[in-house]
Amino acid sequence: MIDDYNTIRVKPLGGALGAEISGIDLNEAIPDEQLTEVRQVFGQYAVIFFRNQNLTPENEIRFAKRWGEINTNRFFSSVEGYPQIALVVKEPDQKNNIGGSWHTDHSYDTAPALGSMLFAHEVPVSGGDTVFASMYRAYDTLSDGLKSTLGNLRARHSSVHVFGAARAEKGNDDTVGRIKNPEAATQEAIHPVVIIHPETGRKSLYVNPGFTLGFEGWSDEESKPLLEYLYAHAARPEFTCRFQWKEGSIAFWDNRATWHLAVNDYQGSRRMMHRITIEGTPLS
Ligand code: SIN
Repeated sequence: MIDDYNTIRVKPLGGALGAEISGIDLNEAIPDEQLTEVRQVFGQYAVIFFRNQNLTPENEIRFAKRWGEINTNRFFSSVEGYPQIALVVKEPDQKNNIGGSWHTDHSYDTAPALGSMLFAHEVPVSGGDTVFASMYRAYDTLSDGLKSTLGNLRARHSSVHVFGAARAEKGNDDTVGRIKNPEAATQEAIHPVVIIHPETGRKSLYVNPGFTLGFEGWSDEESKPLLEYLYAHAARPEFTCRFQWKEGSIAFWDNRATWHLAVNDYQGSRRMMHRITIEGTPLS
């Protein structure tokens, strides 16, 4: 437990990122002093977790709005009556989950999302964890030579190959129906490969296996070897932490500093989460 805070208790989850915050009730309107401390933990640990919260949709939205505007998801189904809350669900008879490989939410947007919140409503008895990786740590541990090469590069990101028509046509993908509006998958964006985090000022590696296509001015084939090197490096276990869900748990991750992956190891069980995404700003 870290003792530096007056209004919350903080327990780091891994060596590279992640911290669990306790001593807070998100069903109440949290005071500004407490929010300031939560923000400090979010900045330092890049993904924060809360337990035993069991929020109503109204209180999920109220907490999310303390961080910025809500991005209404174009592709996910939403909770009935709450278009701001996306549904991340897998039924017992479905095989594919949502977010089952490494990615950074919304990197295909010109102003990518600040962060995403996941609220656990129904979880399997075992399995269904989420793994996070620190893109600060990934960057910091590169050689000076590669850092300097990457510092001059920008990368192309797209939503089309993930959410577009090609996905909708895939017969064996049963996330079709949970993921919709393939015609809305038109987003393409170019961002620096190394970004300066807008709040912490730290350098972070900003490419991801889900949505990055290649480097600006390079073909996809030319980009592939270097991207694959970076992906293998960034996914090293010592740069990650793994969160085991219980009903009422919440995770809130910083999309400018992390990747995440939902482990799909609970076939035959239901997992149902609410997700709210917070709008961000253009990256530099
Ligand atoms: C996501 O990628 O947003 C889903 C993560 C999860 O379900 O754990």
